[in-house]
Amino acid sequence: MLDTVELKIIELSKALSDYVVRTRRDIHMYPELAFEEVRTSKLVEEELRSAGFEVLRVARTGVVGVLKAGKGKVVALRADMDALPIQEENDVPYKSKIPGKMHACGHDAHVAMLLGAAKVLAEVKNELPGTVKLIFQPAEEGGAGAKLIVEEGILDDVNAIFGIHVWSELPSGVIATRRGPMNASSTSFVIRIKGKGGHAAHPELTKDPTAPAVDIYNAIQKIVSRNVDPFSPVVISTPRFEASRASNVIPDQVEIYGTLRTFDMALRDRVLTRIEQVVKHYAAAWECEGTLEVGRITYPPVINTPELADFVLSVASKIGPTAEAPMSMGAEDFSFYLQKVPGAFISLGVKNEGKGIIYPHHHPKFDVDEDALWRGTALHALLAYNYLKR
Ligand code: NI
Repeated sequence: MLDTVELKIIELSKALSDYVVRTRRDIHMYPELAFEEVRTSKLVEEELRSAGFEVLRVARTGVVGVLKAGKGKVVALRADMDALPIQEENDVPYKSKIPGKMHACGHDAHVAMLLGAAKVLAEVKNELPGTVKLIFQPAEEGGAGAKLIVEEGILDDVNAIFGIHVWSELPSGVIATRRGPMNASSTSFVIRIKGKGGHAAHPELTKDPTAPAVDIYNAIQKIVSRNVDPFSPVVISTPRFEASRASNVIPDQVEIYGTLRTFDMALRDRVLTRIEQVVKHYAAAWECEGTLEVGRITYPPVINTPELADFVLSVASKIGPTAEAPMSMGAEDFSFYLQKVPGAFISLGVKNEGKGIIYPHHHPKFDVDEDALWRGTALHALLAYNYLKR
């Protein structure tokens, strides 16, 4: 089943487990937000150079490591590096030292696993019939760092790309992916309703934008049930509703901030058109002006190449249990890579109830079961080796 190179990759990955954990903890203590990954990218560059990779600086704070072995194909492996504006509540020796910032999505583990894979791949370089590109991208969390990497041409010579995300919903060590759609597209928007404010005792002298705003908040949910094919998933969430700050003041304006998730960009466009119509007409009914502003960056859906999703699961089965990943309405900027080249996005389970590692991503108590991380290192290296020799 396993050839000698695969056996070597697995042994090396297990042996590097301490290095990967140490590196993950180091990055965890010094989290950096999107496009501020200066310390992290310096660490990445030093480690890549010491492993014998050529290093490119890309996408402001991103790093690409290139290992040219044989003359064949080019395979890319990706890790994201940014943290979140969250105050960590874990009581662990490697707790974040930066107030208000935390690696609460596991990107610290992604960087560490891929640096481990860099060392492994360097060790088996003579067995690689092509080139490996390791992409350490900035700004996954809202900044679309992946889009910049693509625009800078980093994928122009790449035949396939794989990315691993640690996953808190999946038992530790399980590797999962799926054929086709995996993560939804994400579009942020702001609804503005302009009226005329005044004293709350005299609403008749105002044009209270709160009245249509409440109707609009409810009405746009009907777009999902009345205008959309029930077999096409759509989520509209509008969690931020900014109206008056005082109980006796009617505001001039109300703003509703939301996010739209779909797997189908044409459907996304149709839903946005419907939201705009509802906003405009409901506001007008109350003598207000309603507008819809759509966010500058939309993350497209993550659509895995079916044949490469099968490939990932067959390679992953060499190191442990696998599963079919569920579709998620959560977005990922890995989608920008998949618009450019074939590939697959992969989940690595890091949940461990016995260790109390049960909190979801973006939670102040999020953590990862570090015993799973060698599998990420091994999977990266095995994917590169097996893809290049296909
Ligand atoms: Ni993430």
